[in-house]
Amino acid sequence: MNQGLTVLTNLAARRANGQVRSLDGTWRAIVDPYDSGYINILGERNRQGYFRDFKPRHAGDRVEYDFDHSLELNVPGDWNTQHPELLYYEGTVWYRRLINVSAAEEALDQRQFVHFGAANHTTKVFLDGEEIATHTGGFGPFSVEVSGRLTVGEHSLVVMVNNRREPDRIPAMRSDWWNFGGLHRSVDLLTVPATFIADAWVTMAADGRLVGGVTLDGPDAGLTKRFVLEAAGIDITIEGTTFEIGAGEVADVERWNPGKPVLHEVTFTAGDDTIGDQVGFRTVRTAGTTILVNDRPTYLRGISLHAEGPSGGRRASGEDDAATLLGWAEDLGANFVRLGHYQHDEAMVREADRRGLLAWCELPVYWGIDFANVETAANSIEQADELVLRDRSRASVILWSAANETLPGPEREHFIAAIIKRFRELDPTRLTTAALLTLPSNDPAVHIDDPLGRHVDVIGVNQYMGWYYADRSDLAVTNWTSDFNKPIVFSELGAGAKAGLHGNDDEIWTEEFQAAVYRAQIEMIARQPDCAGLSPWILKDFRTPLRVLPGVQDGYNRKGLLSEEGERKLAFDVLAGWYRTLAD
Ligand code: GCU
Repeated sequence: MNQGLTVLTNLAARRANGQVRSLDGTWRAIVDPYDSGYINILGERNRQGYFRDFKPRHAGDRVEYDFDHSLELNVPGDWNTQHPELLYYEGTVWYRRLINVSAAEEALDQRQFVHFGAANHTTKVFLDGEEIATHTGGFGPFSVEVSGRLTVGEHSLVVMVNNRREPDRIPAMRSDWWNFGGLHRSVDLLTVPATFIADAWVTMAADGRLVGGVTLDGPDAGLTKRFVLEAAGIDITIEGTTFEIGAGEVADVERWNPGKPVLHEVTFTAGDDTIGDQVGFRTVRTAGTTILVNDRPTYLRGISLHAEGPSGGRRASGEDDAATLLGWAEDLGANFVRLGHYQHDEAMVREADRRGLLAWCELPVYWGIDFANVETAANSIEQADELVLRDRSRASVILWSAANETLPGPEREHFIAAIIKRFRELDPTRLTTAALLTLPSNDPAVHIDDPLGRHVDVIGVNQYMGWYYADRSDLAVTNWTSDFNKPIVFSELGAGAKAGLHGNDDEIWTEEFQAAVYRAQIEMIARQPDCAGLSPWILKDFRTPLRVLPGVQDGYNRKGLLSEEGERKLAFDVLAGWYRTLAD
């Protein structure tokens, strides 16, 4: 379970304030499949372990590791695609970064934290040989306090990351994506005042009110907290940790809209600490089976994405990857992206804010999860907190998704209902959803009655008619309804094709076959009155160990509308052509 962590959001503001020292770059690393750098042969803590970053003290000193002459790994980045011998590696890798502190950099009377954008999957953090934190979860941000430890001189930051799949983890043993391990997002050293703003957020509720919060961390909990939104002439003092501003006071603030984003400067202050952010204000709600943004029915012309970079089959991270990937989504005519199946880099949702793209953000409660395990349930809530706390000021985000393709059952329903409850506690303004599994059926009247439908606001439906089941001709006579009078979003649909492989549209793996499935899907979906949108699977081909057909898949899922290198397939233009007819 998580230990030694501190809630600390608003990293972008800390960077803008000059409070961040990047620890990105080349780290030294030791590959340790047996965890021998942590546990000795008796199963006890290895007192000479790699986390000590020892050097031989004299000629006879037996030290059987040496970070200074070990493997090099770039951070941020998965380890799998940096060294061929690590492509399939699942186990522990030790990272080491030396931090040199000058007299000018010594943070006297301030507090310091090491912030991790994400590390897959389970992480232990050590500073100068002492274990200071543990984090479980491969895709959420976390911070570890190091105040008072970084005195003038050289310090050894050692991070143990293991990406082993375990039955009690989230995700667990199988996923249709590559198990990229390591420090795949940025690592930063933050220096903040002794009492600082640990979390500050603001967003617009469905009735047009602003709701937000400011939480302090430090001895001066009584500091005056202020919120300023100049666009509305608002400058208020915040009592307690949350605030509301009446809809009337912000009625004239220009709204953020899909395709027409407007971001406003907001400022939170408390004592010596200031957090600035650029926030869009829009309402989102459902009415029956419709989704409304700013009270306008909005059909989600979407596409799904994995967090895989534009080329090279590696973990995506940073602004350049976000700009390329979301640029491709815009080329498709999308107004919506499903950021599946886990929390993506913050750069993605900030880029979606800037581009006016709506976003579905998701937890990796995927396929077979140990729903009966209380520790697994506790970690699902920790991961839900990381997902929502980081991004609840982002106008682009309209949907929090609790799960993907989990099998019905009482423990699963209880587990996922608890996540949805947590989403709403932290953020009552956004919609909740989950992607439901559709099992093959010969019945042209497909009726969705998964009990999860009672708990969510929007019903995600993954269906692969024309690929995994049903003939293309079946789609022409199929209709979808549900028990719940809630919007249905087809959160997955599609077919595979190898880019550049051409033939008749009945020849599987050809681009023509994939395009024909898309045509049949579009014709069916366009007829569904309860459907509020779709996010076909998937923008681009992506790495997975589940897809091994030589010469066609070669370790990639080929349902992309683009190849893993961004080459367009025919189906891209089929979907884009339809989206153009729907565009507002
Ligand atoms: C499932 C699953 C995806 C997977 C897809 C596929 O719907 O949610 O993660 O990649 O099917 O089979 O390609």
